[in-house]
Amino acid sequence: MKFEVKNLNELDLVAKQILDTYKDNKIFLLNGEMGAGKTTLTKSFCKFLQCDHAGASPTFSIVNEYSSATYQKVYHFDCYRLNNENEAFDIGIEDYLDSNFYCFIEWPEKIINLIPSKHICIDIREENLIRIITVREANEII
Ligand SMILES: Nc1ncnc2c1ncn2[C@@H]1O[C@H](COP(=O)(O)OP(=O)(O)OP(=O)(O)O)[C@@H](O)[C@H]1O
Ligand SMILES: [Mg+2]
Repeated sequence: MKFEVKNLNELDLVAKQILDTYKDNKIFLLNGEMGAGKTTLTKSFCKFLQCDHAGASPTFSIVNEYSSATYQKVYHFDCYRLNNENEAFDIGIEDYLDSNFYCFIEWPEKIINLIPSKHICIDIREENLIRIITVREANEII
């Protein structure tokens, strides 16, 4: 799947389409440079999943947990500040990933060996203020 997104309204529609298409997936990796729009897309996912509040930027924590009326819990990870996989292990990332709740993961390359093999890869890049979002299903570590 490939989308070209010009504004935040369009992004909400893309988020819905991605989750509708990959209904039996819970692990979504968000790849893209700083400012590409990983957190913003996660907020759109959270909106669609009826989370109690839009995903605040996880500046100070690695894992943000939201409660959802329909899906109980949704996790949003920002792994940027992790120095190594042991740190991820120490905060129990594997338990979150095994929980079968939705997990949206920024900077997944930091924990690449801990990612379950069944996941969805989302790449976001910006070109002239347009976000190009490509989505693919993976059954093995990228
Ligand atoms: N699809 C979009 N359309 C318009 N603006 C966007 C879109 N996606 C993101 N932005 C804007 O780009 C800026 C950076 O977005 P965001 O914080 O989501 O990036 P990020 O990939 O999470 O960055 P970081 O790696 O620092 O966490 C924000 O101001 C956001 O409003
Ligand atoms: Mg971010």
